[in-house]
Amino acid sequence: MTGMCTGRVAVVTGAGRGLGRAHALALAVEGARVVVNDLGTGIDGTGGATEPAERVVDEIRALGGEAVAHGSDIATTDGAASLVATALDAFGRLDVVVNNAGFLRDRMLVNLDEDDWDAVMRVHLKGHFLPLKHAAEHWRAETKAGRTPQARVVNTGSGAGLLGSVGQGNYSAAKAGIVGLTLVAAAELGRYGVQVNAVAPAARTRMTEQSFAETMAAPGEGQFDAMAPENVSPLVVWLSSASCAGVTGRVFEAEGGRITVMEGWRPGPAADKGARWTPAEAGEAALKLLAAAKTPQPVYGAR
Ligand SMILES: NC(=O)c1ccc[n+]([C@@H]2O[C@H](COP(=O)([O-])OP(=O)(O)OC[C@H]3O[C@@H](n4cnc5c(N)ncnc54)[C@H](O)[C@@H]3O)[C@@H](O)[C@H]2O)c1
Repeated sequence: MTGMCTGRVAVVTGAGRGLGRAHALALAVEGARVVVNDLGTGIDGTGGATEPAERVVDEIRALGGEAVAHGSDIATTDGAASLVATALDAFGRLDVVVNNAGFLRDRMLVNLDEDDWDAVMRVHLKGHFLPLKHAAEHWRAETKAGRTPQARVVNTGSGAGLLGSVGQGNYSAAKAGIVGLTLVAAAELGRYGVQVNAVAPAARTRMTEQSFAETMAAPGEGQFDAMAPENVSPLVVWLSSASCAGVTGRVFEAEGGRITVMEGWRPGPAADKGARWTPAEAGEAALKLLAAAKTPQPVYGAR
């Protein structure tokens, strides 16, 4: 198959289902050879199975594309290193990492156990960091050997990490961390030919169809299915291609037919006394500044 990603090799984590599957198929349709990673976990991250990744490899091959399965946990050093090694062994190069794997353990903060905190931080935050790090080591070596790549990393954020989401303290913190990681990686890795961006998607997958059943409902016959995961993939494909040259360190929301550039934290109204404030003065100044500042967007699910 030929297209926007012809000649490129992509790894997609958590690509056995949902959004990752849609990204892997879309990348293959645009000519990329794909390493389909998936640990095959349950919805809460427990268990494991090889079938989801293998099924997507079969789907890609049935379309005439090239793909191999990788079934390890991407939040481990061995899993992340072998993911990169699989791309190099199977296809001889690596151009794209789409970090997507993850799961939820939603609870209100007072009920959130340490295990649920650790598991969600681990799979999302460490599960983004480790594949990024191992791929970046490869790309740095390529650059030092005089072969600077046009490499791309697409991270997966969430509206929960941008605005916060009630009942998702662990997930919101992990996804906010992924945005910070994206900014640092973009700044550090540009010299090695690597662009790093993040997409905050919304789509109907097993992760969302229970909690957001109403907004995720499938449309009537012949109507645009705004919640299909496939709607998010075209932006991911473009961000994975050489065509997005110069775009790095940016965060996009993608849902249905809508793409939104998210504008990050920036200084708002400020006051400078030129000396140390008393607490009472600091409070008075803070209230004046808040009155002049934009009202924050509401946290998802807040009343
Ligand atoms: N669906 C949405 O509306 C939505 C919204 C915001 C963010 N996201 C994010 O998009 C990504 C994909 O979510 P989805 O909705 O497609 O969910 P999904 O459950 O359909 O797919 C996630 C996949 O990740 C795999 N996985 C879990 N832990 C893994 C590990 N350690 N190593 C390798 N694979 C692992 C699972 O087996 C699963 O197939 C996640 O990062 C999620 O947080 C989704």
